[in-house]
Amino acid sequence: MYAKKISEIEKLIQKQDEWRCQCINLIASENVLSQRARAAGCSDFAHRYAEGHPGERYYRGTSYIDEIESQLKTNLKIIFECDHCEVRPISGTNANEAVFSRFVGPGDVVMVNSTPGGGHISHHRRGSLGKFTHNIIDFPVTTDGYRIDVEKAAYLIEKTRPKLIVVGKSLFLFPEPVAELAEACRHSKTLIMYDGAHVLGLIAGKRFQRPLAEGAWLMTASTHKTFFGSQRGVILSNMEEESWRKIDRGAFPGSSSNHHLDTLAQMAICAYEMMDFGDTYAEDTIRNARSLAAALDRLGFDVQGREFGYTESHQVAVNVKAQGGGEKVSRTLEANDIILNMNMLPHEPLSNHDRPDGIRLGVQEMTRFGMGEAEMGQIAELIHACIVGKKDVKEDVNRFRSQFREVRYSYDNFGERRTEPLKLMKSA
Ligand SMILES: Cc1ncc(COP(=O)(O)O)c(C=O)c1O
Repeated sequence: MYAKKISEIEKLIQKQDEWRCQCINLIASENVLSQRARAAGCSDFAHRYAEGHPGERYYRGTSYIDEIESQLKTNLKIIFECDHCEVRPISGTNANEAVFSRFVGPGDVVMVNSTPGGGHISHHRRGSLGKFTHNIIDFPVTTDGYRIDVEKAAYLIEKTRPKLIVVGKSLFLFPEPVAELAEACRHSKTLIMYDGAHVLGLIAGKRFQRPLAEGAWLMTASTHKTFFGSQRGVILSNMEEESWRKIDRGAFPGSSSNHHLDTLAQMAICAYEMMDFGDTYAEDTIRNARSLAAALDRLGFDVQGREFGYTESHQVAVNVKAQGGGEKVSRTLEANDIILNMNMLPHEPLSNHDRPDGIRLGVQEMTRFGMGEAEMGQIAELIHACIVGKKDVKEDVNRFRSQFREVRYSYDNFGERRTEPLKLMKSA
């Protein structure tokens, strides 16, 4: 009876596949799987459960996922130089909740980055953290808005004695001052949680900061923004055993039951790719972000963070109020197959959330498809032609993107490396 409807769904999936590989994708929280990781997604694991830990499951039939999960955990501990690794959260939010649910109670003070300052919704009153306490206060920031003001934050930490501070954010241009805050937190016995959802791949590639070595008590993250995927969450730490047991129970049974074994198996492949290609990928990504920012600046856009070199991550933030605001600009770009999101900037009131001044651009996906600095210049020109020149650039975008279809920084089925950016053919 519904066979036709199923065909319709299949067609929509196909359309999505075809469309997004013609687009310039600049959503800073997304990435693509390699061919081999993607192919691993249709396995029998998609049907299975494996509650518990490898070798100590509540279900039978888990010997192969036990081996995969064990390898993944070992590799993540190597990559992030830590003793503990929890891979069962199925998203970054789920990982955050596993921590909040065990370490934050009613009345506890927690300090976070504000929403306009880039903080993620899971750190806020209306998100996961708000389920456990309402005493959530924002970090004071420097006048540009993109950095925590360490001196003021230290004073506030001493005065309010937070249970936890959450650093790391969604609009994330520069490293957080973890070492400096750790000093202040020692006196008040405040725990430091680093949310590395956006920058996990840059940390893995050793090109951003080393939160655990700098003094963070734990790091949570999603695994699919600058890390190679699949879409999941992790918790990493060097904390003592007793506290880790609480995190363990926070992950299961606290915030998940089935931990989605198909994406777990894909993640095991992605971790190996990160071990081999993470450093060059992180370096290329950050270089590309700076190039894109500089090119947009040269074309007259109000690129944020200019006085600090624009960015040290995969992200670029632009104030497009003069061009009609983030909502309008992102829609116009989408109609031309350039996909990014509108974003509040630090100077804005919360009430601007649906009509913010800014846009956020992430170069990690296009870097993975082999684009380099020259292509960042071309992307800036396409954006300029579309938004300032009011031209229809869709065909140019599609032609440009057609040269970058293969996922690099990975192996093909014969074990050949795919690292070098493709040769650029001049686009019209
Ligand atoms: C800083 C930060 N933390 C957590 C998350 C949540 O991750 P997920 O979407 O995997 O739940 C995000 C998502 O973008 C994020 O930006």
